[in-house]
Amino acid sequence: MSTTPSRRPLALVTGASAGIGYELALLFARNGYDLVATGRSDKIHQVTADLEQNGAQAIPVQADLADYQGVEDVWQAVERTGRPLEAAVLNAGRSLGGAFLDTNLDEELSVLSLNVTSVVHLAKRVARHMADRRRGRILITSSISALTPTPYETIYGPSRAFTFMFAESLRHELKEHGVSVTALLPGATDSQFHSRAGMDNTSLGPGAKKNSRVEVARQGFEALMAGKDHVVGGDRATKRTALINHVLPEPVKAARQARLTKPHA
Ligand SMILES: NC(=O)c1ccc[n+]([C@@H]2O[C@H](COP(=O)([O-])OP(=O)(O)OC[C@H]3O[C@@H](n4cnc5c(N)ncnc54)[C@H](OP(=O)(O)O)[C@@H]3O)[C@@H](O)[C@H]2O)c1
Repeated sequence: MSTTPSRRPLALVTGASAGIGYELALLFARNGYDLVATGRSDKIHQVTADLEQNGAQAIPVQADLADYQGVEDVWQAVERTGRPLEAAVLNAGRSLGGAFLDTNLDEELSVLSLNVTSVVHLAKRVARHMADRRRGRILITSSISALTPTPYETIYGPSRAFTFMFAESLRHELKEHGVSVTALLPGATDSQFHSRAGMDNTSLGPGAKKNSRVEVARQGFEALMAGKDHVVGGDRATKRTALINHVLPEPVKAARQARLTKPHA
């Protein structure tokens, strides 16, 4: 990273080493922001080179956000800049496929630590920092899985339902403090997400039609900048599914979802 003091606003993006978060980080760089960019793997160090090629000063943080100290490490990296944080994207997350009777409890608790606990933990630090300055924007990645039961990803959908309603609740509280909160609800998107969840042997495995992560990130970025409460990320069919999910009975949605997520025999 260059040591020249920067006048660009600062953004934090978690899960910036791959997928939707990587594309979001690139959008911030191209739109004049410097970045604190986080990932679990050492890929985050290559990513910061990409961000710098797009004009940003970028600080990489390699940290496991399923771990309390990992979240603190990320926040300390932001504080060490001594700069106000203008935007924060709480995006890192993962799923775990398979039948609940077969899946490993420790892995499930780790998914909840990442998808739920780390979002609350980091939001606590970010919200206080932004409210003190009466400005800032927060984007929280949820999923259209927040709107349906998700058999064979049994804890994933509920974890994203938490982040969706957490974002909407926080938005209401922070409005009077000059801070806006937006939720991004992607449909199935082309990233490593399903493969990492062990879902290659499902109808969401390789070859399945998915939304472009570039397009989903663009929709999230634009909704954040427009101060919207939430946006569904994806094509028309994805947005239609999200709308229908508001009226279909839960058992009908559960059966539809299971056709996509049940491991093939
Ligand atoms: N793809 C979809 O179909 C889809 C649909 C709806 C919602 N989403 C949501 O979108 C978000 C991003 O997913 P994606 O599709 O971009 O997935 P992805 O390609 O697998 O990227 C996930 C990102 O999160 C990071 N990450 C994973 N576990 C972590 C941990 N324990 N600690 C810190 N960072 C961790 C990864 O870091 P490393 O790469 O360095 O390990 C990576 O940067 C997630 O919150 C997911 O729930 C995805």
